[in-house]
Amino acid sequence: MSQPAMGCIKSFVAVLVCLCAVAVQAEDPYLFFDWNVTYGMISPLGVPQQGILINGQFPGPKINCTSNNNIVVNVFNNLDEPLLLTWYGVQQRKNSWQDGNPGTMCPIAPGTNFTYRFQVKDQIGSSFYYPTTSLQKASGGIGGLQIHSRLLIPVPFDPPADDFSVLTGDWYTKGHKSLKRLLDSGRPLGRPDGIQINGNSYTKDEPLFTMEAGKTYRYRVCNVGMKTSLNFRIQNHTLKLVEMEGSHTVQNVYDSLDVHVGQCLSVLVTANQDPKDYFMVVSSRFTKKLLTTVALIHYANGKGPASPELPPPPPETETGIAWSINQFRSFRWNLTASAARPNPQGSYHYGQINITRTFKLVNSRARVDGKLRYAVNGFSHTDAVTPFKLAEYYGVQDKVFKYDTMKDEPDKVPESANNNINVLVTSNVVNATFRNFVEIVFENREKTIQTWHLDGYSFFAVAIEPGRWSPDKRKNYNLVDAVSRNTIQVYPGSWAAVMTTLDNAGMWNLRSEMGERAYLGQQLYLSVLSPARSLRDEYNLPDNALLCGMVTNLPKPPPYSI
Ligand SMILES: *[C@@H]1O[C@H](CO)[C@@H](O)[C@H](O)[C@H]1NC(C)=O
Ligand SMILES: *[C@@H]1O[C@H](CO)[C@@H](O)[C@H](O)[C@H]1NC(C)=O
Ligand SMILES: *[C@@H]1O[C@H](CO)[C@@H](O)[C@H](O)[C@H]1NC(C)=O
Ligand SMILES: *[C@@H]1O[C@H](CO)[C@@H](O)[C@H](O)[C@H]1NC(C)=O
Ligand SMILES: *[C@@H]1O[C@H](CO)[C@@H](O)[C@H](O)[C@H]1NC(C)=O
Ligand SMILES: *[C@@H]1O[C@H](CO)[C@@H](O)[C@H](O)[C@H]1NC(C)=O
Ligand SMILES: *[C@@H]1O[C@H](CO)[C@@H](O)[C@H](O)[C@H]1NC(C)=O
Repeated sequence: MSQPAMGCIKSFVAVLVCLCAVAVQAEDPYLFFDWNVTYGMISPLGVPQQGILINGQFPGPKINCTSNNNIVVNVFNNLDEPLLLTWYGVQQRKNSWQDGNPGTMCPIAPGTNFTYRFQVKDQIGSSFYYPTTSLQKASGGIGGLQIHSRLLIPVPFDPPADDFSVLTGDWYTKGHKSLKRLLDSGRPLGRPDGIQINGNSYTKDEPLFTMEAGKTYRYRVCNVGMKTSLNFRIQNHTLKLVEMEGSHTVQNVYDSLDVHVGQCLSVLVTANQDPKDYFMVVSSRFTKKLLTTVALIHYANGKGPASPELPPPPPETETGIAWSINQFRSFRWNLTASAARPNPQGSYHYGQINITRTFKLVNSRARVDGKLRYAVNGFSHTDAVTPFKLAEYYGVQDKVFKYDTMKDEPDKVPESANNNINVLVTSNVVNATFRNFVEIVFENREKTIQTWHLDGYSFFAVAIEPGRWSPDKRKNYNLVDAVSRNTIQVYPGSWAAVMTTLDNAGMWNLRSEMGERAYLGQQLYLSVLSPARSLRDEYNLPDNALLCGMVTNLPKPPPYSI
């Protein structure tokens, strides 16, 4: 090769290197994970059983990241069943391709792997991930996901001495395959066997966490269970609420906090008591039989065992519901605090936006062909072999599902808990309009508490009230400082209202966060299509996307334009 040619190549390389450097600087950092999902023995209630482990652990590895980080998780499915993980509470901007629900992605076949790629864009706070396939969540595969603020963004409290993740939830010793068989045969799950805290049963006298006297710690508490609302408290210590599902809250102090299925919150706990051991207590709410589990918190250099006298749970029954609703109403968005962005959270004036569409969703239970099903507005959802998102993208949705079979309000009003209105089992996909500002009212006419979660968004939880909803109830909404979050509880015989702007194009799952109910049909998808087919609104189908069902061999549609 002659000298001039060499020089040309050198300078070309130099330009490339230079461009790369700029690109890297402009791009947000990447975090890489390799996860091996396997079965293994666990004993969250002290009884050994087969669980789902990630890299040998239950709970799985924590994803500890910072706003706008890019997360790359290569998941090897070494189970004997298809697998999908969802990144709960991660809004997946423009990217329902990675949301990990059967309506958006083809499952990872046993013995194969798939690499999730997503960005925790403009988000902070506490969350978790879990498997959405079958009822695998009942066996594990769950782990913490926490998003820190970027260095330059002020956080409305001092950095804690440590950051503890508490993943707690009801638990069945049966394992997900037996539970799935129960549901498939038309029977209910029944009562859970207990409550687990971080997969440990308190038998070993080993502390779960250690605090140093005088220091303040952040506890991130998530209810990762199947159906049971929980109350969280720590002997002789108060809980200062600072964050809830990605929002900074007004920092009220509580003796105990209700955490419903799918909800997460952060509290600050100061080690300001006698240096000895204390129990962290988690107990069930609104269940016939009170379930209680403890874990040990140790003071470094502390002496003395925890007192066997546990702080009492809040009241149950009617007064308990009133207590819990009051607590919900005390949760407020701190309007002046920043979240992921430098500007204050409260600069988004959601209360001044006109509602463009109202969904009133009434849950019900029914028997279809003798089998238990759960429904919303009379429709009990089933997934299709071809994920709805892929069917839509490839233009074959007509062969897979019909939009808007469910009405925005129920036609026939199920009057009581065990109503036997006609329930139709079908794929429930709503054609929702991009950028609409929607109000979703959940009305619960059953006798048990519900929780609802929306993927792809956070919503303003503007009201919870006993009784039935009607438009005049809007005058009671909190249109100023309701907390922006992603999961809401709906008490028996009550309703809850949330509001959000559908500004994130994609196919988004709106579901009962109770595993049994979602599995038996209490869920739907919101298809939020941007007519522009533009990369401004939505990313392209990822190159490594798994294909299945009708789209397996179809030619790829033209990519979205700039
Ligand atoms: C995953 O774990 C299983 C069981 O321990 C092991 O056989 C397999 O080699 C592991 N796979 C990877 C990719 O680490
Ligand atoms: C988690 O991330 C934060 C912020 O990047 C860092 O300060 C902290 O040390 C990390 N914690 C762990 C356990 O890696
Ligand atoms: C599976 O893992 C390998 C690395 O072990 C990686 O190169 C490949 O891209 C992964 N497959 C998918 C579909 O992500
Ligand atoms: C709200 O956040 C601001 C700004 O960080 C902070 O100064 C204030 O103490 C917080 N207010 C409450 C009531 O928590
Ligand atoms: C600590 O809590 C227990 C009950 O949980 C109570 O009996 C005891 O008086 C408390 N001690 C202090 C110092 O507050
Ligand atoms: C909201 O609706 C009211 C009355 O229906 C109308 O006067 C107002 O201009 C609307 N506001 C916006 C921001 O569209
Ligand atoms: C979905 O709704 C939009 C209007 O919001 C309409 O233009 C479009 O045709 C609808 N799509 C289907 C398939 O019904």
